[in-house]
Amino acid sequence: MTTESPAPALPDHEIPTLSVDELRHLQTERLRATISAAYANVPHYTAAFDAKGLTPDDIRSLDDLRRLPFLAKADLRDYYPFGMFAVPRTEVVRIHASSGTTGRPTVVGYTKQDIDTWADLMARSIRFAGGGPGDIIHVAYGYGLFTGGLGAHYGAERLGGTVVPVSGGMTERQVQLIRDFGATVILVTPSYFLSLIDQMESEGIDPRSTSLRVGIFGAEPWTEAMRREIEERTGMDAVDIYGLSEVMGPGVAQEAGTTKDGLHLWEDHFYPEIIDPVTEEVLPDGEFGELVLTSLTRQAMPVIRYRTRDLTRLLPGTACPSMRRMEKVTGRSDDMMIIRGVNVFPTQIEEFVLAEPRLSPYFQCVLRQPGRMVELTVLVEPVESLGDADADAIARHLQHEIKTNIGTSCRVEVRAPGSIERSIGKARRIVDERPKG
Ligand code: DLL
Repeated sequence: MTTESPAPALPDHEIPTLSVDELRHLQTERLRATISAAYANVPHYTAAFDAKGLTPDDIRSLDDLRRLPFLAKADLRDYYPFGMFAVPRTEVVRIHASSGTTGRPTVVGYTKQDIDTWADLMARSIRFAGGGPGDIIHVAYGYGLFTGGLGAHYGAERLGGTVVPVSGGMTERQVQLIRDFGATVILVTPSYFLSLIDQMESEGIDPRSTSLRVGIFGAEPWTEAMRREIEERTGMDAVDIYGLSEVMGPGVAQEAGTTKDGLHLWEDHFYPEIIDPVTEEVLPDGEFGELVLTSLTRQAMPVIRYRTRDLTRLLPGTACPSMRRMEKVTGRSDDMMIIRGVNVFPTQIEEFVLAEPRLSPYFQCVLRQPGRMVELTVLVEPVESLGDADADAIARHLQHEIKTNIGTSCRVEVRAPGSIERSIGKARRIVDERPKG
């Protein structure tokens, strides 16, 4: 490895310029330190490595990582609330948690240094998206146990922006503050941003007339069609941000505003792998599968080979050449609907809903099982009231498009304008009405 004269290290909030060799060297050192600390301090890792007959000394290179077992969300729940911490509880300065759909929340902890690293990586992400010192940064991700609000907030401050910590909800007031304060950057889920645009339009405000320049959208899957819809309606740059509480929060990967070609993973802090979700085999870069992440610098709660359930592929770096990109997330394996043997994600449906200009971008996929077969009904709504004949024609056209392009039969129901559930955070795209158990 060529590590003789490493480039001077930049502060973590800058876009890294190190070479691939320097990056691999840094990752290897950080991986070994992470594994030693996890093995020494977290009973789960001690037991899991022992069960495979491995000690930290067996893990010398990044390739050795694949010898270690995976970490699943269920493992984190088993050690609820603080059993996965690698430092004494008194060194944990912050707790976040993700609610999940069933049972106990997943708890994550941060040391002072973890919070500092997170702020740096979020500052780096906002800068990469097109923000900078002096921007007025409107944060409409929820504040609280959810990592979106506070994660964005600390990063925006670290960057040198003027932060407006609005959190989610109170849509009218959001619009007023964006206009009165002259927000230039907004961080919000793409689905809630649509509600903000609707609110502007209902007040007779042209969304292209605001001072907003950059939108940093994440926390849920969204498509290129949604990017076009948002950019056309607002004149802003819409860029993608990825993260998850178990691994830190927002700022694990960020799309560059200059290229909008997928999300660069901040590989100096997180090591990515893609696996086949069924066989668990590690796949080469470029192949589609489940993203697995290993934290390289986290102190309070290191995660080793965490199975994110998010489906994507790894691509070479562009705007930050040494770091790999991940393609826009198609969806979570948990959100994959299997309709008569065909795998369907809500993002695939989104493309077709957005292609019909008379439909609003809100939709839901309802799953029912009246007999042996699972049935999918896609609920959509028009922008303005339609006559029965037009509604029927749209429903039939959408059914046909979905059948031809995705391969699944479904029923499309055109509901009244404004009747599909709106969210102030993550949209609920799947409504599962199948009998439980
Ligand atoms: O959603 C953290 C976050 C906040 C990311 C704000 C970006 C912006 P969790 O609530 O733990 O954390 O949910 C994490 O959300 O595993 C993905 O399934 C999904 N997700 C997050 N970002 C994206 C994205 C936050 N850009 C889960 N595209 C993840 C698709 C995303 N899915």
